[in-house]
Amino acid sequence: MNTMNLFSLKNKVVLITGGAGLYGRCIFDALLGAGGTVICASRNLENIQKVIEGFRSKGFNPHAKYVDQSDHESIVKLKDEIRQEFGGLDVFVNNSVARPMRRYEDPLDTWKESMSVNATGMFDIVREMADLIDQKGGGSIVNIGSMQGMFGPDFSLYENTDMDSAPDYHFHKGGMISLTKYLARKFGPKNIRVNCISPGGLYVDQDEKFLEKYNKKVPLGRMAGDDDIKGVVVFLASQASSYITGENILMDGGLHA
Ligand SMILES: NC(=O)c1ccc[n+]([C@@H]2O[C@H](COP(=O)([O-])OP(=O)(O)OC[C@H]3O[C@@H](n4cnc5c(N)ncnc54)[C@H](O)[C@@H]3O)[C@@H](O)[C@H]2O)c1
Repeated sequence: MNTMNLFSLKNKVVLITGGAGLYGRCIFDALLGAGGTVICASRNLENIQKVIEGFRSKGFNPHAKYVDQSDHESIVKLKDEIRQEFGGLDVFVNNSVARPMRRYEDPLDTWKESMSVNATGMFDIVREMADLIDQKGGGSIVNIGSMQGMFGPDFSLYENTDMDSAPDYHFHKGGMISLTKYLARKFGPKNIRVNCISPGGLYVDQDEKFLEKYNKKVPLGRMAGDDDIKGVVVFLASQASSYITGENILMDGGLHA
C-alpha cells in the first residue's frame, strides 16, 4: 500500500471521548484531518457542539453523542446508537479523564469519584467499545495515558505556585498502561490492537515560575504544543502501526531521556 495511505482513516468509524478538552481537541482535530468519520462522545453536549461548529467551518463533519463514563447505562446507550447509526467501530480513542482530586491532602471522596470515571468507567467503556470493533472484524484502541503514569512527580516544579500533582492521576494512568498490555493480549486474536500514548504536559499558559523550571528540564526546551500529539495518535489509530500492539509511547520532549 502507498505509504501515506497507510496513515489514512478514510472510511473508518472513529470514536473519541472527551474531545472538547485540552489535548482532546487536538486529538479530535487529528482524527478528522486523517479522514475519519469521527464521533465525539461527551458529558457536555453544549460544549462539544461549539467545538464541532469550529470543525464544520473548516469543512469537517463530525458527530456528537452523549456519554457519562461513570454510568454503565449511558455507555450501553452510546454503544447501541453507534451500532445502529454506524454499524460498529474501527477505532476507539479512550481519552476522557476526570480530575476531582487536585492534591494529596484532598478528601477521600475525590479519590472515589475519580475511580468511578478513570478506573471503573474507563474499563467499562473500553470493554463495550471493543465489542463494536470486534463486530467490524478488528481495529485499533488508543488509550491516552500520561507520563505521570510512568514516573513519580517532580514536586520541585510546583514550589511557589498553586499547582500540584494529584496521586489518583498517577494511579490511574499507571494502571492504564498495564491494562493496555492485558487488552493487547486478550484482543490480539480478534485483530484488535491496543496501544497507549503517555504524553507530557500541554502548554496552556501555566504559571511562569513553573514554566521556567519545566522548560529548562526538557531537552526540547518546551511543553507540548497542539500539534505534537496528532501524528502519534493517527499512527496508532491507523494501519501505519499494523504490527504494533501492547505498546506505550512516551511523548515528553525528552524529559525522561
Ligand atoms: N492536558 C495535559 O497536559 C495532559 C498531559 C498528559 C496526558 N493528558 C491526558 O490527555 C487526555 C485528555 O486530557 P485533556 O487535557 O483534554 O483533559 P481535560 O480535563 O481538558 O478534558 C477531559 C475530558 O474528559 C471529559 N470527562 C470527564 N469526566 C467524564 C465523564 N464522567 N464522562 C465522559 N467524559 C468525561 C471532560 O468533559 C473533558 O472533555 C486525558 O486522558 C489526560 O489524562 C493530558
